[in-house]
Amino acid sequence: MVFPEYRPRRMRQNETLRAMIRETRLSADQLILPLFVAPGKKVREQIPSMPGVYRLSVDLLADEARECLQLGVRSVILFGLPEKKDGVGSGAYAKNGIVQKAIRELKNTVPELNIVTDVCLCEYTDHGHCGCLHNNSVDNDATLELLAKTALSHAEAGADMVAPSDMMDGRVSEIRAALDENSFHMIPIMSYAVKYASAFYGPFRDAAECSPQFGDRRGYQMDPANSREALREATLDVEEGADILMVKPAVAYLDIIRQIRDEFDLPVAAYHVSGEYAMIKAAGEKGWIDEQAVMAETLLSIRRAGADIILTYFAKDMAKLLQQGCI
Ligand code: PBG
Repeated sequence: MVFPEYRPRRMRQNETLRAMIRETRLSADQLILPLFVAPGKKVREQIPSMPGVYRLSVDLLADEARECLQLGVRSVILFGLPEKKDGVGSGAYAKNGIVQKAIRELKNTVPELNIVTDVCLCEYTDHGHCGCLHNNSVDNDATLELLAKTALSHAEAGADMVAPSDMMDGRVSEIRAALDENSFHMIPIMSYAVKYASAFYGPFRDAAECSPQFGDRRGYQMDPANSREALREATLDVEEGADILMVKPAVAYLDIIRQIRDEFDLPVAAYHVSGEYAMIKAAGEKGWIDEQAVMAETLLSIRRAGADIILTYFAKDMAKLLQQGCI
């Protein structure tokens, strides 16, 4: 059927028809809000390059979590800012580490919240790399044990899901084994399976104070030029026992999200990262774009590309928009 018999505009005439045939939808329970946990009390410190995102002390987390739940956002992912850093990132797996404390506080006060934890060492190492070092390079195999200890300590504190973001080879199976050996076989692993060495992480590194003190992360995070390699990374993680595959960043990698969706049958998550958030915020503040509309269109595009789950600093804003029935 061609014009004039077929007129695509026929089905775009009004919002009822448009809504009836809408292929992709967003819902608040597909969103995960990242939270940065800081030491101290009553700390609510805005991150300069991420307006609307705060470092919160443990005592202020429950209120934030309740607000999320009211909006229908049922999951958060925790990142910690430890008081002290060292060469082996021991704050990451300390029984009384900042994230472990945050988990216990949230489980006590808001038990229905789904708590995901980021499993990585870079926020806890004084050199800012995602593992321990050997001859100034990240020692993959020695790091695995520390990551497994970190994931286990999160599970022991009460985390509902762990998400390794370090990009060491073999970490998913190491973490799975550590969890299973300790009766945490029901704790899912959301693997940052396809994580690129991206300049879009800039604001996050300010927020979490975890920029590498020398070199960069290109020795372990993926080269932005590669997509076949993304499939190999994801294949390994599936074989090692991942429950959810994540692609990160999101918007500059929509093609990768689509490929992962088509090739694998596990749920796919995408991380709409700090730099992607900051750009929309900055242009919105200048009045150059309509922030809310661009946010909604962006998150919808990530869903359309194939992501089931989106980690985004916009989670609450998007949920508010959904509650108002605006999209
Ligand atoms: C830890 C980690 C990072 C992000 C999530 N986990 C930083 C990095 O890899 O440099 C980035 C998140 C964001 O930019 O929003 N490794």
